[in-house]
Amino acid sequence: MGELVTRGESVYMDNCATCHQPNGLGQSSKYPALAGSDITTGTIESHIDRVLNGKADTEMQAWAPQLSDLDIAAVITYERNSWGNEMGQVIQPMTVYESR
Ligand code: HEC
Repeated sequence: MGELVTRGESVYMDNCATCHQPNGLGQSSKYPALAGSDITTGTIESHIDRVLNGKADTEMQAWAPQLSDLDIAAVITYERNSWGNEMGQVIQPMTVYESR
């Protein structure tokens, strides 16, 4: 868990923080908070799906083409265990691979 969270934090800062902010609180109504949000505290399947495939017609792009299975597993593990989110789950790269 520690290693994935550390890697996930750096993936997050490089790719996600411009919109969702380093503190996970997002910006106004344009970019949603990830602290306590439906998907980051919901099912792992929905979280992987949103990061891999994005959401059509929004600025949330699909990350599947850019990020490796390991980086996606790491950033999701980071999001589920940061900013007060305490899901306590480690996401395996194999699970991301199987969701592609
Ligand atoms: C260009 C801005 C932008 C960037 C960069 C971005 N997002 Fe998003 N993200 C959004 C927007 C906008 C939404 C809301 C989409 C909707 O549901 O309308 C969103 C939604 C989400 C959600 C769902 C939140 C919820 O509970 O509804 C997750 C999880 C998420 N983003 C993760 C990430 C991750 C991980 C990264 C980096 C790899 C990232 N985002 C990068 C704009 C961005």
